[in-house]
Amino acid sequence: MASQPDRVIIFDTTLRDGEQSPGATLNVEEKLAIAHQLALLGVDVIEAGFAVASPGDFQAVKTIAEQVGIPGGPIICSLARAIRQDIHAAAEALKGAARPRIHTMISTSDIHLKYQLKKSRSDVLAIASEMVAYAKSFVDDVEFSPMDASRTEPEFLYQVLERAIAAGATTINIPDTVGYCTPKEIGTLIQGIREYVPNIDGVILSIHTQNDLGLATANALAAIEYGVRQVECTINGIGERAGNAALEEIVMALQVRKPFFNPYFGRPVDGDTPLTNIKTQEIYKTSSLVSQLTGMLIQPNKAIVGANAFAHESGIHQDGIIKHRQTYEIMEAAAIGLPENRIVLGKHSGRNAFRTRLKELGFELNEADLNKAFNRFKEVADKKKEISDWDLEAIVRDETQIQ
Ligand code: KIV
Repeated sequence: MASQPDRVIIFDTTLRDGEQSPGATLNVEEKLAIAHQLALLGVDVIEAGFAVASPGDFQAVKTIAEQVGIPGGPIICSLARAIRQDIHAAAEALKGAARPRIHTMISTSDIHLKYQLKKSRSDVLAIASEMVAYAKSFVDDVEFSPMDASRTEPEFLYQVLERAIAAGATTINIPDTVGYCTPKEIGTLIQGIREYVPNIDGVILSIHTQNDLGLATANALAAIEYGVRQVECTINGIGERAGNAALEEIVMALQVRKPFFNPYFGRPVDGDTPLTNIKTQEIYKTSSLVSQLTGMLIQPNKAIVGANAFAHESGIHQDGIIKHRQTYEIMEAAAIGLPENRIVLGKHSGRNAFRTRLKELGFELNEADLNKAFNRFKEVADKKKEISDWDLEAIVRDETQIQ
């Protein structure tokens, strides 16, 4: 009987679901480099790929199992459909891992059964229990996912999960495969599973949320409130279609809002035990590496890791930040491994931010010079999106006697 962990297990699927982002294909060396960085970041589980999908993916899972899945390292996992050939390939590829996990899945919603699998509910019940047992013949750690769980008729979902647990699954993962649920619906789904599936508290309950409606992170956090203790996520939220829940968003939400989440872990509101094993100072480095190797650019306003996430442009905000950072900042850039929060000078910036930046650049202007330089800065800022330090130096030299 698995006891429920007192932290959220971070299951990173950047190398499997993340790699399913159109155009994000990675070779073995690139996957290995990301896996090493994920281990430094402190993820608990790395889903290294889908071993049966291609010889390259088999090799990637095998290499990561051998080189990153060392004793003391993360659990290494491979996805496998509930098909013997898939499970066998996953087991082979994972042989070198100190802690291997096979993640097997089968669709359970009526729409998938009718149009995709062309199987009956009783077929799915039999396959789920047979294939979990088959995976269990290779490894102790077996995760089972009923694909499209959130659109599955609840009574049937409970039956499939009961069978998977009886056959030996140690983690039950609930995918919102098409990103359809709202946070409240996710809560109801998890509550129902915990209430009606026998022995569910003896396994780790997990959530996998897709971002089709932009709700992946909110849904994962809602699931945690309802007792889920493993979250599947990717760096920068990359993944199939609109992507997955972003690791950095979930981890920083749990950290910044710890007093809100603590009671769900049975802890005092002000307790300061971390809620994940993630070394948050490694987040920025990991995000940059994944972006660079997948070629998936990060939108500037992306939460936590976007270029603007710690930048302040408006004069009112900049003035507040200069007086006290917490006026407009809920976390420090250093917490994710960035050297500092950025003040961006543009047309919305005020005198205080302008003067402060000039001081940082070594220019101490008298009031008259400051006025002239500030007026010129506003003219330039109307024409340019962002004013660089070079622009500022040129403005000071043009408008004052300083050379
Ligand atoms: O989206 C999904 O349903 C999945 C499962 C395999 C977990 O990726």
